[in-house]
Amino acid sequence: MIMRFFIKTFGCQMNENDSERMGGLLHSLGWEKTDEERKANLIIVNTCAVREKSEDKLFSYLGRLKNYKRKNNTIIGVTGCVAQLEKDKIFERAPHVDFILGPHNYHKINEIIRNILDKREKLVDTQWQKEWPELSEKHVLRESQAIAYVTIMEGCNNFCAYCIVPFTRGREKYRPFWSIIKEVEQLAQQGYKEVQLLGQNVNSYFDVQEGKSFVDLLKEVNKVNGIEWIRFITSHPKNFTKDIAHTMKDLEKVCPQLHLPVQAGSTSVLQRMRRGYTREEYLEKVNYLKKLIPDISLSTDIIVGFPGETREEFEETLSLLKEVEFDNIFSFRYSERPYTLASRMDDNVPYEEKINRLIELQRLQKEIQIKNNKKKIGKIFKVLVTGKSKKDKNMWTGRNIYNQVVNFKGNDLKIGKFVNVLITDIGPYSLRGKQVK
Ligand code: 5AD
Ligand code: SF4
Repeated sequence: MIMRFFIKTFGCQMNENDSERMGGLLHSLGWEKTDEERKANLIIVNTCAVREKSEDKLFSYLGRLKNYKRKNNTIIGVTGCVAQLEKDKIFERAPHVDFILGPHNYHKINEIIRNILDKREKLVDTQWQKEWPELSEKHVLRESQAIAYVTIMEGCNNFCAYCIVPFTRGREKYRPFWSIIKEVEQLAQQGYKEVQLLGQNVNSYFDVQEGKSFVDLLKEVNKVNGIEWIRFITSHPKNFTKDIAHTMKDLEKVCPQLHLPVQAGSTSVLQRMRRGYTREEYLEKVNYLKKLIPDISLSTDIIVGFPGETREEFEETLSLLKEVEFDNIFSFRYSERPYTLASRMDDNVPYEEKINRLIELQRLQKEIQIKNNKKKIGKIFKVLVTGKSKKDKNMWTGRNIYNQVVNFKGNDLKIGKFVNVLITDIGPYSLRGKQVK
């Protein structure tokens, strides 16, 4: 009998890559991936804990899985950040779950499944691992045929006041340099054109044994034949050095695009968040980059309504958005998370006020993006084709060098190929156009 698995992924790109790696390990033992829960013998829910809402989504999703359990006796596992945080408490809220596996233990997935199939006992493994758990690079079942995620480090040592990640992913651990390069070389052989290097704090990457830094890594990846575009995420402004900026400029494959989460535009809020930089220091880095790489496309993350954020402080975030003119932002209402420093602060910003600030901020940013995107009408961009457009089956979709979504009309295309697209129309979140020679 063919055994099938289904993985539901919440959260960030690293979670997506973790799901691809768990999928790869299962696949190596003969399991097949299915896109339908009802056909699965095993359902893994890979979770995110970064905001309260992501946890709520998990439990409502788990509720829906009860049916499959009843009908098919499906094995259900919870992995990821909520698994690490809640451990066996998840069984109390969702007794139909069979196993809980934390992010440091994915290499044990096959062993866990075997134990469950044998004994049908509930299992929990959320042990911290000090060493990087190296998996064979063959064991990755990738979602995209165009863009490949490559995890280079995991964890975080920063302890920003609002953030749960150090408690779910542990301290920083770096993947061996040689192993990253080997994976990128294999991806190039498989035809991948773009790699995205992933980590909570990629700029602090360091391989102690080989004495290699993040800059060394970029230089080496840049040498891999076949790979044409390199991106990395996420950079902490505190660790984003001039050296990295110059490396981005000098290496032809590193895209002129950077995600640099600022979180807030006011120095006093940044201090309370324990971010380790001021508004001025952030702006200085951004201005340096813009001078060095004039066409650089910047994106950021913003939290509104952090404990004690005054109207004036919030307005400083608005003014920062106006000054930098990001091409894209991810903005969130502050959400209290267990174990964090901020959870012990007095949060006197009313819920309604947080919502209103978020709406105001997003409205402003939308105008900025429309204004910026309008300048792109009439231009031709090289686009990496990622698939068919979800909204319109007659359209293709892809990304330009700035990581912007481009939807376009084209003929005879293949995922993972580059095409030239003339931009004819824009929206705040994407560009539209047609393929040209
Ligand atoms: N509340 C709201 N947003 C948060 N983020 C992280 N922690 C919280 C929180 N407690 C946001 C930050 C981070 C992004 C991944 O999620 O902006 O950069
Ligand atoms: Fe969510 Fe952070 Fe965990 Fe990614 S690392 S899944 S963003 S909590």
